[in-house]
Amino acid sequence: MVTAYDALMARIVAASQADAILVGDSAAMVVHGLPSTVHATIEMMCTHTAAVRRGAPETVVIADMPFLSVRRGTQAAVEAAGALMQAGATAVKIEGVTGHEDVIPHLIGSGIPVMGHLGLTPQSVNQLGGYRLQGRSPAEAERFRAEARRVEELGAFAVVFECVPAALAKQTTDELTIATIGIGAGPDTSGQVLVLTDLLGLDATFRPRFARSYLDGHEAVLGALNQFAGDVRAARFPARAEVIA
Ligand code: KIV
Repeated sequence: MVTAYDALMARIVAASQADAILVGDSAAMVVHGLPSTVHATIEMMCTHTAAVRRGAPETVVIADMPFLSVRRGTQAAVEAAGALMQAGATAVKIEGVTGHEDVIPHLIGSGIPVMGHLGLTPQSVNQLGGYRLQGRSPAEAERFRAEARRVEELGAFAVVFECVPAALAKQTTDELTIATIGIGAGPDTSGQVLVLTDLLGLDATFRPRFARSYLDGHEAVLGALNQFAGDVRAARFPARAEVIA
């Protein structure tokens, strides 16, 4: 699974062998330049989800429920999830489980498939004290495993494990029957997810250790832009063939 936020990139992902697109609330940071995913709104997520769906009409598209949208009661959660589904999502992803256990089965019972997200849940970054590995102490690891079991019991079809020790991700994956999708969680989850800009190496200032860049996108894009600027200054662009007569 990879993230996408716009129609063009969604079209490329859809043409690839990736199984699913995540319209992550990382859009707030990656696209809008905001400091954290806390700033994602339902309007923002619906706009990106609709764009992705237009670019990838046949692909499984999972959209993030934004900050607090599952904490304002079931009615508000249904409205937010319904808006994402009408924008084109196939399913929604919900961070955490404790305190909103009622929302997950209600959405599923309403025809909305739910993916969980445990471990480092970025919407809680202010409570977690930063973007840190989770589940390190025996007590934290036990809570993580219990939460994962709860997410499965509540009916989620899959769950993202973010930034937890590889051994814990493996043990918990083995204990579940639903698919686990890892990011910074080692090799033994059922699948992996990467943020598209990390995968493409587009941000030279942010290269998380757990992500792999399959392209030096930053250098490639910068190089192309500088070639364009150089060609214009040297009157090499446009050439005769590029002039519309
Ligand atoms: O918002 C996002 O991109 C995510 C992934 C990091 C899993 O939730």
